[in-house]
Amino acid sequence: MLKIGVLISGRGSNLQAIIDACEKGEVPAQVAVVISNKADAYGLERAKKHGIPAVVLEPKDFKDKDAYEKEIIGVFDKAGVGLVCLAGYMRIVGQELLKKYQGKMINIHPALLPSFPGLHGQKQALDYGVKVSGVTVHFVDEGCDTGPVILQTAVPVLENDTEGSLSDRILEQEHKLYPMAVKLIAEGKLRIKGRKVQILK
Ligand code: GRF
Repeated sequence: MLKIGVLISGRGSNLQAIIDACEKGEVPAQVAVVISNKADAYGLERAKKHGIPAVVLEPKDFKDKDAYEKEIIGVFDKAGVGLVCLAGYMRIVGQELLKKYQGKMINIHPALLPSFPGLHGQKQALDYGVKVSGVTVHFVDEGCDTGPVILQTAVPVLENDTEGSLSDRILEQEHKLYPMAVKLIAEGKLRIKGRKVQILK
């Protein structure tokens, strides 16, 4: 069974959605370990509640980004991780992780990429005045939210939306889309061809 390593920085509601989908048997995979770069991330408690090892690795304790990421890889290797999911991980991924998990590391973003990458995708969409935003799950490459797109869901922007209300409706869709993408990978149904991700029947 595919083992997943999840990188988080905070709340961990997407982590929870993935754990739940795996536990229900909807996704043939298992969250093997969770790593947070922040000691107070609530997602760590979520992992512990499910008996999943929850590890804190703080970048400040390492000499540089390479050393930090090598430690992450060490933890993932010990746990037999074959897929890395970034779930609200608030750091730019560096060369070590990119090299090790090319085509095996995915991220979720709260907007329809390539629109509104980076921080506060929901606020960016609202400020721009788009009528439709959404969710993207994509492979991670060296850019910021630029990797090949796996799945997207559209979410309408409503007249009276605030950043909070739009974020809530987007988050609801995130919790459906992320497990779906993990399922496709666990079932071996994705092929990356350049920028395009083919979904096999
Ligand atoms: C989500 O909106 C996700 O799309 C973005 O960061 C947020 C993380 O939320 N990358 P959570 O920690 O999964 O609850």
